[in-house]
Amino acid sequence: MEMIAPTMQDVKPFDLARVRADFPILQTLSHGKPLVYLDNAATAQKPRSVIDATSEYYAQYNANVHRGVHYLSDQATRLYEGTRDKIQQFIHAAHRHEIIFTKGTTESINLVASSFGQGLQAGDEIIISAMEHHGNIVPWHLLSARVGVKVRAIPVTDAGELDMDAAAALFNAKTRLLAVGHVSNALGTINPIQELIALAHGHGVPVLLDGAQALPHLRVDVQALDVDFYAFSGHKIFGPTGTGVLYGKEKWLNAMPPYQGGGDMIDIVTLESTTFNSLPHKLEAGTPNIAGFAGLGAAIDYMSALDHAGAFAHEQHLLALATKQLEQIPGLRIMGTARDKVAVVSFVIDGIHPSDVGTILDHQGIAVRTGHHCTQPLHARYGLSATTRASFAFYNTEEEVDRLVQGIHKVIRMFQ
Ligand code: ALA
Repeated sequence: MEMIAPTMQDVKPFDLARVRADFPILQTLSHGKPLVYLDNAATAQKPRSVIDATSEYYAQYNANVHRGVHYLSDQATRLYEGTRDKIQQFIHAAHRHEIIFTKGTTESINLVASSFGQGLQAGDEIIISAMEHHGNIVPWHLLSARVGVKVRAIPVTDAGELDMDAAAALFNAKTRLLAVGHVSNALGTINPIQELIALAHGHGVPVLLDGAQALPHLRVDVQALDVDFYAFSGHKIFGPTGTGVLYGKEKWLNAMPPYQGGGDMIDIVTLESTTFNSLPHKLEAGTPNIAGFAGLGAAIDYMSALDHAGAFAHEQHLLALATKQLEQIPGLRIMGTARDKVAVVSFVIDGIHPSDVGTILDHQGIAVRTGHHCTQPLHARYGLSATTRASFAFYNTEEEVDRLVQGIHKVIRMFQ
């Protein structure tokens, strides 16, 4: 089967103009102005190869997977399962069956909460943190309501870092899981995951990392980290929406009961009972998002071919530039000043509501996110109900930072 070739194999050193040319939407206008897309933490834009892979599946290979003996079904299955191989390599998992396909990070975490959670009982404790996205809070609250587990949170410092002394003090004989974000979607903080994993494993506690905001910027080796579960979304790593992954160590996934019942996840079904398929299918019920995973395979190809060191350095340069310029604006305050950050800047401006900031920026062609960014407890920690967030990807430019800063000056002028 023909696979979509990445377009960037020869890009070294980091070639911003060439990278931008791969993303059709970056050449479009918003309100008649060249689009400045700074909402990458909400969802990233897609390179042409991802868009093509998705439509090529429908045009050339559309059939269900794992079910047919016919040519098309075989092609579709190879495409779909080929993405599993690519992801295994991308995050360096030991086995391809440790890669479970889901519809996103949220479903991946819900899967662990539902399935791993079935082994827990009242009084058991889960440790999260105060900077988590709701997707890594609410599933544990639901589990708490079902089973009676206690959810405890690592506090966040003023700078937006985890309080590691407080983290160490939260572990006890009842702790069953540490579930924390690798990178904060609202603060940009890169958490000290090696330290956290060592801490948890020292207490015999497995670790789930929410990697939704990490993989767009950082590379991960799940074996080197020795992490037990790693959840992420396809759409934030330049792939289609409705695709996600749960990586889990084989020993945990094998021990976990199915998450949902239906086609594909079974071995034998009688009217009285069911036996289950092996991994990964045991945890993937029903017809999956085949087109999406075809596109995700192309996104992994794209990410793998990208000059990652160059891209990361470029993003860090944009972060430093944006931080420096925003800090000089009177009345503007940045939420999240951790030492290690990805290129995410959330801020408030005295006397101006973030939704007004976002709306006025939008009219200048600048897309940012405003609100609580699905982190109400974190915002409450800072005494805020909302912020404006600019989140960058490797395809953003210095000129776009300038346009953001000019745009904010315009917002302030309009409110004076
Ligand atoms: N979790 C995504 C964000 O932070 C949607 O915007």
